[in-house]
Amino acid sequence: MKYFFLAYAIIAVLFIGLMPTRGAKSPNTPIRLFPDMDEQDKLKAQKPSDFFADGQGSRQPVAGTQALGLNATGALELGGIHDLEFGGGIGYYASGGIDGYFANGMPEELKLTADNVTAFLKRGEEVYGVNCAICHGKSGDGLGVTSNYGVPGIANLTQESWFPAAYPDGRLFYTISNGKGNMGGYKHNIALRDRWAVVAYIRALQTARKAPYDAVKDAYDKGIATQAK
Ligand code: HEC
Repeated sequence: MKYFFLAYAIIAVLFIGLMPTRGAKSPNTPIRLFPDMDEQDKLKAQKPSDFFADGQGSRQPVAGTQALGLNATGALELGGIHDLEFGGGIGYYASGGIDGYFANGMPEELKLTADNVTAFLKRGEEVYGVNCAICHGKSGDGLGVTSNYGVPGIANLTQESWFPAAYPDGRLFYTISNGKGNMGGYKHNIALRDRWAVVAYIRALQTARKAPYDAVKDAYDKGIATQAK
């Protein structure tokens, strides 16, 4: 027993003696039993690298590609998509609200004219088709593919409760941007202008749904005919 205590004391002293002082600086490489991710094979921005033949760590963009947010000449303009186009900004165009109230109407920043409004709606159709139709259905009726797999409570956007009188354009824009309940927001995925295009397209879907059969007879019958094929 006598030796046990002696051995115990010696081991304890050795152990403590060997422990590095926490926080002490040393030029030596530390002994690391668990290196975690201290050393990584990675390139740091602006640092040289002998991995590439030209000795440069940072790479040039692949020829013929264009960075998101820049146009072909490297300027920050639409065509690439301006950062601000995803959020930031104030006013009706960026928020859907005026003085704290949701408003109706297309913002003037869209510079809509009789000439470009058709292309704008087409764009809305495209963006809606990519992002929304999977849940809300191609026609907005809420019966998209996911409804077959049990996603509950998908809004039927062709119902009166989503018409402008009850649910202003600005609110629709806000919902697309920030989401609602089980639906995520799209402000980081769909550019501002495109979100307004979706608003406009949903209005077109609603108007189409309201139209009396006589008014849309030709298009309707043609649609049914192509679906039957
Ligand atoms: C993953 C499925 C899904 C996708 C994709 C989706 N939604 Fe929804 N959406 C929902 C669900 C679920 C609700 C019901 C949310 C709730 O009330 O909890 C909803 C609700 C809504 C509402 C009504 C919100 C309210 O105030 O009650 C609108 C408007 C809407 N979506 C528009 C869109 C638009 C436009 C897109 C495309 C940009 C889109 N949604 C994409 C699932 C989706």
